[in-house]
Amino acid sequence: MYETLTPAPPDAILALSVAFREDPRPGKIDLGVGVYRDAQGRTPVMAAVRAAEQRLYDSQDSKAYVGLVGDEGFNAAMTGLVFGADGPVGRIRAVQSPGGCGALRVLADLLHRAKPGSRVWLSDPTWPNHQPLMAGAGLDIRTYPYFDPATKAVRRDAMLETFRSLGPDDVVLLHGACHNPTGAELTPADWEAIADLAVERGFFPFVDFAYQGFGDGLDQDAAGVRLLAGKVPQMAVASSCSKNFGLYRERVGCAFLLGETPEQADTALSNLLTVTRATYSMPPDHGGAVARIILEDAGLRRSWEDELTAMRTRMLGLRTAAADALRARSNSDAFDFIAHHRGMFSLVGTTVDQVRRLREDHAVYMVGAGRMNVAGLTEAQVGAFADALMAVTRSG
Ligand code: LMR
Repeated sequence: MYETLTPAPPDAILALSVAFREDPRPGKIDLGVGVYRDAQGRTPVMAAVRAAEQRLYDSQDSKAYVGLVGDEGFNAAMTGLVFGADGPVGRIRAVQSPGGCGALRVLADLLHRAKPGSRVWLSDPTWPNHQPLMAGAGLDIRTYPYFDPATKAVRRDAMLETFRSLGPDDVVLLHGACHNPTGAELTPADWEAIADLAVERGFFPFVDFAYQGFGDGLDQDAAGVRLLAGKVPQMAVASSCSKNFGLYRERVGCAFLLGETPEQADTALSNLLTVTRATYSMPPDHGGAVARIILEDAGLRRSWEDELTAMRTRMLGLRTAAADALRARSNSDAFDFIAHHRGMFSLVGTTVDQVRRLREDHAVYMVGAGRMNVAGLTEAQVGAFADALMAVTRSG
């Protein structure tokens, strides 16, 4: 069998992490993989997670299977977190998933089963793993205009013009908040326009919601998803607890579907569960159990929200510090966009060759053509980062 295979390329983001680990240079800076790091460069276990894990350890008396949908308490708590207190819960169904990727993939499989000829529209650019996740499910990939490299903002008119040409066989994959890789966000007016067009044209919104709480706040970041849920007849959402709970390696997320009626939602759920059963059977339990304990306990929830707020505030501070350092060095406002973007990432406008030189000559690691993980920077590294970026952009 294997003799028919040729070597597959390594994953661009994960391979960069390995290269960084193996780099012996002392001042190296990792702005690659999307993982939060504190001022000491560590990715801490959040205090509420530690406490919830202890509680789970003390109380769990069985490792028997939980069931196809995962932890029902987790799913209910996540429904509240994502859709808010006034969400259309009667039409929403939730299934715990192995991370955000697991949710994206099984929902894409469900859409392909529902309409085999469907096209899925990805933002230009988008997170590199969207393409294989969607194509692996058999969906036909297209792209819609999103990021303007000149202004570093969303190409609103071009994006909406594309959406205006879509119909019921089209799925539009949107980033719920903290666009990966650009950092350029949709405004409330953009979400409103997209929701109206989805209703008018009949296309299906599919939201990747991996960074809730990393932009402007848990509720603020959910505004787009909630607005859509209040207007469109059907949609899907893939959420993740990797970043906001720091549960990366535990692989926990949630796949949501919203049907036109409760009956339609039940039918879609029954199909989704045959997809998950045939893919990985049941989701892993640990991360979901931990997140549920936190979301259901007032004290732990407060601790988690406070720590998340501190992380978000720190990322915003790093954005301002990086923009200030680059303004001082370039004597221009060309990099001010870093302070205006949201979430972990900004696309800084370098070329692939400049990114290679940043890595080879300055030990600064970034993804692709210049996706910077702001949360990978420490306060102490801001000056060195700005010097390196100026050096490679000035020399062409
Ligand atoms: C990223 O974009 O760096 C993260 O979402 C990690 C990953 O799986 O690619």
